[in-house]
Amino acid sequence: MAERLLEVSGLSTHFFTHAGVVKAVNGVSFTLDRQETLGIVGESGSGKTVTALSVMRLVPDPPGKVVAGSIDLKGRDLLAISEDEMRQVRGNDIAMIFQDPMTSLNPVYKVGDQIAEAVMLHQDKGKKEAWNMAAELLKRVGIPDAKHRVTQYPHEFSGGMRQRAMIAMAISCNPDILIADEPTTALDVTIQAQIIEVVIEMQQAYHSGVILITHDLGVVAEMSDKVMVMYGGRTVEYGPVDEIFYNAHHPYTWGLLGSLPRLDLAEKTRLTPIRGNPPDLMLLPEGCPFSGRCGYERLECRAVWPQLEIVGPEHGVHCHIPADERLARRAELPRFLDQAS
Ligand SMILES: Nc1ncnc2c1ncn2[C@@H]1O[C@H](COP(=O)(O)OP(=O)(O)O)[C@@H](O)[C@H]1O
Ligand SMILES: [Mg+2]
Repeated sequence: MAERLLEVSGLSTHFFTHAGVVKAVNGVSFTLDRQETLGIVGESGSGKTVTALSVMRLVPDPPGKVVAGSIDLKGRDLLAISEDEMRQVRGNDIAMIFQDPMTSLNPVYKVGDQIAEAVMLHQDKGKKEAWNMAAELLKRVGIPDAKHRVTQYPHEFSGGMRQRAMIAMAISCNPDILIADEPTTALDVTIQAQIIEVVIEMQQAYHSGVILITHDLGVVAEMSDKVMVMYGGRTVEYGPVDEIFYNAHHPYTWGLLGSLPRLDLAEKTRLTPIRGNPPDLMLLPEGCPFSGRCGYERLECRAVWPQLEIVGPEHGVHCHIPADERLARRAELPRFLDQAS
């Protein structure tokens, strides 16, 4: 049996702002095992980053608060431990690579100093040893001439190298869980592929579990074992990667799959971008946040959040449309994936 690292149940995180309550995450549940990769996908604003920040207990408070749920890390409830203990958890057990490297790298310190600092914070190592380790880590994430690079400042690094430096810092303490939040969004395609390669290598070397947050289903297909599809702060569908790609049950997942760039069409052709706009998280319906945009809506959709329905091996969906009708609707769609490929 795989070792269970993380179990998140019924997590809800809201922001209490002057304008109203922003219900960013609503009742989200997932698990992560050792060496497993969970992809979290969904449009911008669907609650992916806030979910990760909740696990790290880095949601800015005020205005943010985890209002419900539990976060269990190897038998410890992360919502119940002290801030001091949580500081130990960050770095030792869970590390996060942020969307924008400049939010984690301090522009006024040398890259080597910053990695060495992270090393000394969590390991019993002297300055010189930590500095050597920084160079070694940079080398390990594929930065050439690492001995020279450690003496440089973040602005002397390219975007891809900054991401690599962040990964080096994240893995410096050999975390069980690595959370990568859109680590490649700002990078060109070749560099993106290289960064993903580094994350995979690190996962294999350190046997970590990885949570990969992205709005790019292509990246998810390549890297993930299982996928959580988020919409309006909810998990609408959850399952092994093949189930999500070849047996998707939620209309929102179909929309995402339909907007994948297709190799058989002109490069980067977006087939059917999902019509309409993401929901206002201050005015979410009691029911499904995708109602209003779905196209297959029924009377109960706006009013009642559908219960989890198991539709395949470890594959669940929240949707009021009866399963047989869902499959009929799906069959009417343009083929969004070539089953043969
Ligand atoms: N500090 C904050 N104050 C108020 N709202 C916030 C704050 N941080 C995030 N949110 C809101 O939470 C929602 C989810 O954001 P986020 O998790 O960053 O989305 P994603 O990562 O999926 O693009 C967004 O509507 C965002 O505006
Ligand atoms: Mg985000």
